[in-house]
Amino acid sequence: MLLTLLWAVASSCAFTLVSALGSACTSPLGAGTAAAGDPYWLESIQHRGTAAFNPDPANYVVFRNVKDYGAVGDGSTDDTAAINAAIQDGDRCGGSVGIETVCNSTTITPAVVYFPSGTYVVSTPIIAYYTTQLIGDPNNIPTLSASPSFAGIAVIDTDPYIDGGSGAQWYFNTNSFFRSVRNFRIDLTAVAGGATGLHWQVSQATSLTNVVVDMSQGADSQHQGIYMENGSGGFMGDLVFNGGKFGIWVGNQQFTVRNITINNAVTAIHGSWNWGWTFQRVTINDCSVGFELESGSIDGDAQTVGGEAIIDAVVSNTPVFVQSTTATTSLAGSLVLNNIQLTNVPTAVGIADGSVVLEGGTTTIESWGQGNVYEGTGTTGTFVQGEIVSANKPSSLLDGNGHIFGKGYPQYEAYAPSQFVSVKAEGAAGDGITDDTQALTDIFSKYSGCSIIFFDAGTYVVSDTVTIPAGTQMIGEVWSVLAGKGSAFQDVENPKPVFRVGESGDQGVTEISNIIFQTIGPAAGAIVVEWNVAEPADSQGGAGMWDSYIRLGGSEGSEQDINTCPWTSTNNYDPCMSAFMALHLTAGSTAYLEGTWVWLADHFMDGDGYTRLSLYSGRGILSESTGPVWMIGTGSEHHTLYQYNIVNAANHYMGLIQTETPYFQPTPAAPTPFTYREDYNDPVFGDQITEALGLNVINSQDIIIFGAGLYSFFDTYSEDCVDTRNCQQSIANIDSASSVTIYQLNTVAITYQLSVDGVGIINQADNINGFTSTVTAWSQ
Ligand SMILES: *[C@@H]1O[C@H](CO)[C@@H](O)[C@H](O)[C@H]1NC(C)=O
Ligand SMILES: *[C@@H]1O[C@H](CO)[C@@H](O)[C@H](O)[C@H]1NC(C)=O
Ligand SMILES: *[C@@H]1O[C@H](CO)[C@@H](O)[C@H](O)[C@H]1NC(C)=O
Repeated sequence: MLLTLLWAVASSCAFTLVSALGSACTSPLGAGTAAAGDPYWLESIQHRGTAAFNPDPANYVVFRNVKDYGAVGDGSTDDTAAINAAIQDGDRCGGSVGIETVCNSTTITPAVVYFPSGTYVVSTPIIAYYTTQLIGDPNNIPTLSASPSFAGIAVIDTDPYIDGGSGAQWYFNTNSFFRSVRNFRIDLTAVAGGATGLHWQVSQATSLTNVVVDMSQGADSQHQGIYMENGSGGFMGDLVFNGGKFGIWVGNQQFTVRNITINNAVTAIHGSWNWGWTFQRVTINDCSVGFELESGSIDGDAQTVGGEAIIDAVVSNTPVFVQSTTATTSLAGSLVLNNIQLTNVPTAVGIADGSVVLEGGTTTIESWGQGNVYEGTGTTGTFVQGEIVSANKPSSLLDGNGHIFGKGYPQYEAYAPSQFVSVKAEGAAGDGITDDTQALTDIFSKYSGCSIIFFDAGTYVVSDTVTIPAGTQMIGEVWSVLAGKGSAFQDVENPKPVFRVGESGDQGVTEISNIIFQTIGPAAGAIVVEWNVAEPADSQGGAGMWDSYIRLGGSEGSEQDINTCPWTSTNNYDPCMSAFMALHLTAGSTAYLEGTWVWLADHFMDGDGYTRLSLYSGRGILSESTGPVWMIGTGSEHHTLYQYNIVNAANHYMGLIQTETPYFQPTPAAPTPFTYREDYNDPVFGDQITEALGLNVINSQDIIIFGAGLYSFFDTYSEDCVDTRNCQQSIANIDSASSVTIYQLNTVAITYQLSVDGVGIINQADNINGFTSTVTAWSQ
């Protein structure tokens, strides 16, 4: 009670001060001034990052330079032990005793493990613990060189198997969040036998970017760039694989891959199983097979590849682009090929026995599909192995080559340390307790557009709306947390932004990366991020977020944990309201969102790491933007009314989108405990639509959805409905006034995969494709 009162005072005080200030900076940032060969700014700056909710924040070290732990990087010293010591320092979350894991997950021991330039020889895996970012110097990319005697699953391992052959691992493969690896060359060429670059068995909130894996070349190579056998991802991009038996060998529920190149592998991409993956802009040169897909299992336990949606691939000198292991004459593995440019690729789609489904050559495939195709309100699909609908692609979404535009994670490698400002050096506390509203407001006002704003690791609490001005470039450190708390965010009738990115009508290059936005304690009136900013005309993708998440509840310090909001407590709404809405893209904004995961926690990540919570967030992502909007590898889960709501919008490319319905529904049915708000364009619930919509599209034009995984695994916390495939009646609703193309719509346990104007159209029973039901294309 006392705490509440103090917060109220702090909040009104801060508000008064805000209006008194507000001078803009005078010397714009301009180009980077780092000299060639300089170390990356992250290496040189003073390190002030802390883990706010660690039991010992004063002594827990967030930033670790591997050289400070004895790594040499001279190309001959074995640095394995030093690198792993750098990762493990500080009672981190990982390890096992017998065949039991020691820690399923945590948010209180984040670590950045930094590698200066050098060649680091390793002989056993580097184990990337929970909430670890491994970052190399992007200007002088370090090499991780597997020694000739290398032994272990991979050079970088995200989820070790525990000895004993039980199959047990350190972490749950579907809850393996918060990993990032960037700026490395991994060299396997010294290893004569089998070797793997990364065991990348990960889930949401993970990113793998700017990595090259060099492998031996030739038909007898036993190397592979990535081994991923399961998980629930995720995004990766800007990757290059040279040589190998497999460029990447991958199985995971869903994933989005943007901009990868595979040269001289035997098989560029091996798909073992999935529900649906989106590959955007793949380049394959001089391989034997491009995509080799395990196929054919339409029921039973052995799920194979449910779907691949491939857009803007460029393939050269490769005999077969896509090859399935078995012939498909009915739905058993959906395939979408969009704008595929082949040069000397005799077979575009074939079967392992040598038969050809689609001839290749030197040609462009505009839009081809395999699977069930629907149109408008038609309730009957047609199985197609051939041309399918070609979505109109607005030019604002495309780059100069006619590909869907993509823009990698801004790392500011051209900038010198003097061009950054540390929010802690400027007076923000980031300790999870202090009210940083005024400090952050002052920092933005003083430095936006003039310095890159570095959020040292920490949790920055605000008690009132903070505007992140248009023109701000800000980057966090192992997901710096920006959190709204207190009385300002309680009124569900009058919701208020916690962070407002630009004011309505603003333009400016605005970049946010490596940040988590959240709330602390109840916040029924919080719009966690209101996004108003638009990219300037000369800067495509100039307003965006990378590797940044909205995470509500479920973490230490969130005050919404197993004590306050256990799943077993019913009608316990007030303390467990996490937000009114997570992310609002307002009319007039544009947005490039890559890897954005908008998650209301379904379990508590600290403590035992698996006990469920009952939390309530009204709405996931509302977009009223007329574009361009790119949502590349995004997810939105467990919000009460909807996950994605696209209203009066236009010009969106969304691929892949992943959603989950709240586990408690339909007890109570949506929108309880929230109420319908016409002014926020809420969907209307009725006879057929009684639970959260994964996707709702109203009065919107040119919405392209390139891969969707819309899931409902529970009916009032019971999973029995998964087997009977009917946890929920409807999950995707499009009104008849919208023009939308959806490729590869995968649903789990939804009776009607798609509804038009609230009426169920596509019955999942007609599209069973292993664990999911799959519509290969639907358009209107
Ligand atoms: C993960 O994948 C491996 C290899 O396919 C499989 O043996 C294992 O059972 C899977 N584990 C889980 C938990 O699904
Ligand atoms: C694609 O990835 C490569 C390798 O990281 C990079 O050099 C290139 O700039 C990326 N292209 C785009 C459009 O992001
Ligand atoms: C990890 O989760 C499992 C539930 O699957 C639980 O039995 C175990 O106790 C947890 N381990 C720890 C260390 O909390």
